[in-house]
Amino acid sequence: MNRKPLFAANWKMHKTPPQAAEYVSLFWGAAEALVPRADIVLCAPFVDLETLRLELAPSSVKIGAQDCYYEKEGAFTGEVSVPMLAALGVAYCIVGHSERRRLFAETDEAVARKTAALLAGQITPIVCVGESLEEKQQDLTVQRVSSQVRAALGDLKAEERGKIVIAYEPIWAIGSGLADDPASANATIAMIRATLEGLQSARILYGGSMNVSNCAAFCAQQEIDGGLVGSASLDARTFVQLIKSTLA
Ligand code: 13P
Repeated sequence: MNRKPLFAANWKMHKTPPQAAEYVSLFWGAAEALVPRADIVLCAPFVDLETLRLELAPSSVKIGAQDCYYEKEGAFTGEVSVPMLAALGVAYCIVGHSERRRLFAETDEAVARKTAALLAGQITPIVCVGESLEEKQQDLTVQRVSSQVRAALGDLKAEERGKIVIAYEPIWAIGSGLADDPASANATIAMIRATLEGLQSARILYGGSMNVSNCAAFCAQQEIDGGLVGSASLDARTFVQLIKSTLA
């Protein structure tokens, strides 16, 4: 299966619009040279998306959002819809990040509805799944992760599933400096791929303390198609270096 690698920066709640513009000025030239070999996307806070649209205009680096709402419009104070994101040139959108599930009570049902709304709006969902430390210690990783995958994608058609991106992010590895073992992440991702028809062609990323030193080892694994990168994506030169390290 020929799947093009994908590297997505998740800036989380970092960077004002001027900081986003400065990042792009340092990033896009070097990143552009890598795009023939890897898709690259910057998932930014909503307030930065218009800046990215303008600053990235000459580039093939894609714009991503970090969340969306599944209704098209209406009385949903504070929410942002898929058509609004599409109008800003957004090509990818993270859904179901563990921080949103844990801190903002995002449910499996909401993740499924957002995923379907994004597909309908021609934006590629990056659906995040992953187990907690307690679940890992109790040997519940397969059960937890496969149930999240079925809940988010079970109602889609196989060909729709092939178009999405999944990010396997063990919660205990996020922001902890303790990345998963590449072989173990590969086994979990192989399990995810086998969960539902259509996922053989979907790109499945690893996320959780991915950095310049460990990224190549993850990406050398058969089932891992790239990374969803938090803190190591916040510095433009570091993120370029990280992507380069996997393409050598
Ligand atoms: P870190 O790379 O900072 O561990 O964050 C990973 C993550 O949550 C990406 O979505």
